[in-house]
Amino acid sequence: MYEERLDKRQFDELRPIELETGVVPNANGSARFKIGGTEAIAAVYGPAEVKPKHLEKSDQGIIICKYDMMPFSVPDRAKPGIDRRDMEISLVISNALSRAIMLEEFPSSMISVYVYITQADAGTRCASLTAASMACADAGLPMRDLIAAVAVGKIGDSIVADLSKAEEDYEGGATDIPIAFLPSKDEIVLLQLDGEVSKDELKKAIELGRKEANKIYELEKAALKRRFTYESKD
Ligand code: CDP
Repeated sequence: MYEERLDKRQFDELRPIELETGVVPNANGSARFKIGGTEAIAAVYGPAEVKPKHLEKSDQGIIICKYDMMPFSVPDRAKPGIDRRDMEISLVISNALSRAIMLEEFPSSMISVYVYITQADAGTRCASLTAASMACADAGLPMRDLIAAVAVGKIGDSIVADLSKAEEDYEGGATDIPIAFLPSKDEIVLLQLDGEVSKDELKKAIELGRKEANKIYELEKAALKRRFTYESKD
């Protein structure tokens, strides 16, 4: 039984969020998303010439993504360099972004997305996706929608939102279900499952994920509005 969360949050309560765009002056677009003790910074370049050339597609653009955790992002220094986990997360981010960005508008070109985790306390792939989509919007790329992502989990019999690392590790490990939405389209662009759930629990997890993603979506729109208002004053 998991009736009270370790940090006393409600089951549907997200950790405190900070979200801003335009944090990397040298990139075409950028964003910082912090949720509790997890922080992602995303920077976007392009559309630009495809390199290496053989990756080029004549009818649409391509996205390449690099996800990395800073060595100081976790209590045990994260090993510098790209490992299998980094490669997997880079792939799921670029797959999800491909559904959000109108790649057909950029034939024969490439969009490069770099995401760095400065602090990790679980849910980094979801934080990365939210930050990356905001960075793409900040870069002015045409998009079908923003991405709003959250890790839902099952601890004991309870389905809870936005797991912390302590919750992920609680009593032998929670079931981790990262979910990402294009909220206005009600499309799921990422759904992973690490652990076991019943069909009904999975449905409940997706419902909770949708509700939480909508909360994040409102914050994303507000952050873009702030950026736009700020720019129009210059
Ligand atoms: O970060 P996310 O939940 O998307 O992916 P994960 O592979 O399930 O990792 C869960 C968490 O484990 C991370 O968010 C970090 O807090 C932690 N972790 C770590 O402490 N050291 C690593 N080398 C990798 C992950």
